[in-house]
Amino acid sequence: MIAPPSSPVSTPVSPAAVLLTIDGMPVSVPTGTSIMQAARTVGVDIAKLCATDSLKAFGSCRLCIVQVDGRRGLPASCTTPVEPGMVVRTQTPQVARVRRNVMELYISDHPLDCLTCAANGDCELQDMAGAVGLREVRYGMDGANHLVAEKDESNPYFTFDPAKCIVCSRCVRACDEIQGTFALSITDRGFASKVSAGMDEGFLASECVSCGACVQACPTATLIEKTVVDAGQPDRTVKTTCAYCGVGCSFEAQLKGNEVVRMVPAADGGANEGHSCVKGRFAWGYATHTDRVLAPLVREQIGDPWREVSWDEAIGFAARRFMDIQHRHGREAIGGVSSSRCTNEEVYVVQKMIRAAFGNNNIDTCARVCHSPTGYGLKQTFGTAAGTQDFKSVEHADVIVVIGANPTDAHPVFGARMKRRLRQGAKLIVIDPRRIDLVRSPHIRAAHHLQLRPGTNVAVVNALAHVIVTEGLVNETFVASRCDARSYEQWKAFIVQPEQSPEATEPHTGVPADELRAAARLYATGGNAAIYYGLGVTEHSQGSTMVLGIANLAMAAGQIGRDGTGVNPLRGQNNVQGSCDMGSFPHELPGYRHISDDATRARFEDAWQVALDPEPGLRIPNMLALALAGQFRGMFIQGEDLAQSDPNTHHVTAALSAMECVVVQDLFLNETAKYAHVFLPGTAFLEKDGTFTNAERRINRVRRAMPPRTGMDEWEAVCRLATAMGYPMQYDSAAAIMDEIAALTPTFAGVSFAHLDRVGSVQWPCTPDAPVGTRIMHEEQFVRGRGRFLLTRYVPTDERSTRKFPLLLTTGRILSQYNVGTETRRTPNAVWHPEDVLEIHPHDAEVRGIGDGDGVLLSSRKGTITLHARVSDRLPEGVVYTTFHHPENAANVVTTEFSDWATNCPEYKVTAVEVHPVD
Ligand code: SF4
Ligand code: SF4
Ligand code: SF4
Ligand code: FES
Repeated sequence: MIAPPSSPVSTPVSPAAVLLTIDGMPVSVPTGTSIMQAARTVGVDIAKLCATDSLKAFGSCRLCIVQVDGRRGLPASCTTPVEPGMVVRTQTPQVARVRRNVMELYISDHPLDCLTCAANGDCELQDMAGAVGLREVRYGMDGANHLVAEKDESNPYFTFDPAKCIVCSRCVRACDEIQGTFALSITDRGFASKVSAGMDEGFLASECVSCGACVQACPTATLIEKTVVDAGQPDRTVKTTCAYCGVGCSFEAQLKGNEVVRMVPAADGGANEGHSCVKGRFAWGYATHTDRVLAPLVREQIGDPWREVSWDEAIGFAARRFMDIQHRHGREAIGGVSSSRCTNEEVYVVQKMIRAAFGNNNIDTCARVCHSPTGYGLKQTFGTAAGTQDFKSVEHADVIVVIGANPTDAHPVFGARMKRRLRQGAKLIVIDPRRIDLVRSPHIRAAHHLQLRPGTNVAVVNALAHVIVTEGLVNETFVASRCDARSYEQWKAFIVQPEQSPEATEPHTGVPADELRAAARLYATGGNAAIYYGLGVTEHSQGSTMVLGIANLAMAAGQIGRDGTGVNPLRGQNNVQGSCDMGSFPHELPGYRHISDDATRARFEDAWQVALDPEPGLRIPNMLALALAGQFRGMFIQGEDLAQSDPNTHHVTAALSAMECVVVQDLFLNETAKYAHVFLPGTAFLEKDGTFTNAERRINRVRRAMPPRTGMDEWEAVCRLATAMGYPMQYDSAAAIMDEIAALTPTFAGVSFAHLDRVGSVQWPCTPDAPVGTRIMHEEQFVRGRGRFLLTRYVPTDERSTRKFPLLLTTGRILSQYNVGTETRRTPNAVWHPEDVLEIHPHDAEVRGIGDGDGVLLSSRKGTITLHARVSDRLPEGVVYTTFHHPENAANVVTTEFSDWATNCPEYKVTAVEVHPVD
């Protein structure tokens, strides 16, 4: 569990030793340790109810009282710090009597339904009643009590039964300290005290984000998962990794037979340390949803009905079609896309199939449409295509810069960790056109919100660097010792040009020069400063330039290479880092080594026993364009809904329709499957065995909690397809695939399932020299040797607002839904976000006659969609915003073909649009 900043129950605050005696045993603990904690070091567990390791001590239940020689009264051991020479007795007749009395009072106002209670066997109140030896309750239940208090069943995932509440405040403190949402409070006093969500409006209507931290903290059945109420207590546990976002939270899947009863975030999970969000903890029901397709399907033409067939028939059908296409149109006429939702092992075999069995490098991945500029930019400047820190590093940051990211919605567990650091006093700079929640949330106010116009990122980052250089704030020592001098001098000459100044760029960016100057000074001089960025950086025509600009900024200020600093892309999908690591780009083999490098290629040719094409293959946009030109005719699509997630939907679907063989491997018949000829059913994360790599480069085990309902692992289906096409591919297990990855990929050299099972997780590089991985990159020197500055000239996007399309549309995500919603739409999460809506500034709405909740037509030069409007001042005038979670709303119908100059990452974040009211 995430440790609070100064909990007397948990982390001792000072190394200085204090000697005392507890129950006759000598104890030596650091100053600041509580008596309860000290007792635990000698094996004495003191009875407690309101204390728990994950929260600051509170001292309300009085169950943990002890006797201290020479001191009057019975102090609470959870809140009393040790003192030198103290003599503590945890069990005396007086202590035992008072504890029993306390417990008796609790039980006298508690339903005596233990045998039928959902928490039976997993209830701390029950345990403590036993521990203190309570045998009878002298007070009847006829007096005033809370036993008939009404349940709150409004949350779809958990129930709140106030009749069972002991008002210990653990839920309130969990919401405050761990999640940072401050949704709960104890209202009223004395006997009337009760837990209230929001303004006593129930959990669903309150600001609760359903993270479940309160449910986990509750020592009784007051807050409990509805699945536990329905299914009863679990009987086995499998440790695995969440399959939603790039935070990569570790969970214990608790099961009864093959049915998941609940997901509990793992306290020792490197990424989450016991916390979770609504998706990971609760939204796993899609894995067994009745919409899942469990048997392979084929059809001759995309207009035909699907035919359910055997695995052999489906694989034979796909292999024959692919080979026939290659026979008639050449080896390059087919290719594939790997999935960032799948395991490293599953992705590895797909890229291997394409290079070895298809005989070309036409492999790409959905990172093309999200973080490909990160790969390019960070490799160019630092030498490696990945974030520099672990998540924990933010706890050492004095200044946190969030650029084009919305961590509390898109990376919620990291967002909660970041908020905790901000509440401790770190300063926040947000660079975003939209006022994300972090700008103003309970106990947090951003020091600077640079509310730039969409598409002007590079001008802003240049202006920040301009201030740092021209005001003499460069960390000259760092630059001289760590960076390439020639590139720095060239960059410096560029960045000091007057046109890069905040004053010169303000008319384009809309960011007041004074505010920008103040933010630059804070970043350079405010102590450790860390940058976290998201797709608001990369999904632009200058996405790669912006990544270079961020890297330049961090090097100039010396904000990299140590705890609390760094450049950190918040990767979207659970395994987007891994799918890139595994060689999913058309120019790179696993480990980011160029396909044209003879030595690398020879290594793979030797291992795979096949000649590899030295020429880079096609990217997704090239494949689609060539499909429309009739030259690209077959595609294997692993777990990626191109028809919904890629820009300019009409173009994508026309290209898919033009192909002769589209094979989709997925859980559901998604939008892309409408254009498929073969559907190979995939496995849900609870059925997989393998690894995911999160945004911190952390390789986490994904363990099989239930057998694949399809009867086949995804990697095995891919191996069979490769074999049917004439390239034999066979593995005994996912572990054997990882062994091959490790043998061929230097940064994974020390990774194996056995090693991960031993140490928990590792951040690559994991090598014989760094067997437990690498928390922070570039500490002594950059991976490329010296950090390289690159020039980042601001070039406005060709997508401009015009008279016809005067507004700029930008897009993003919300907490309860995930990406194109394939999974979350099939869970009760739909209650929070049943449709995508268009946020529009009050002025823009008023001049168009649009009211809150009205239907609107959103048009760009690419297409038109309908949405409901939400009038909101989160955006500046001239900018509108929507999410892209629902196929019915089809946000990507309006996005354009513009893309990043270096990587073709689509420019999702800037589309010129007009909005009209509609009935
Ligand atoms: S579920 Fe999370 S946000 Fe909601 S009340 Fe509980 S701790 Fe707070
Ligand atoms: S709901 Fe649970 S955690 Fe919250 S005060 Fe009641 S008993 Fe304690
Ligand atoms: S933060 Fe991401 S990885 Fe963690 S539980 Fe939520 S969705 Fe899963
Ligand atoms: S556990 Fe110490 S007062 Fe409750």
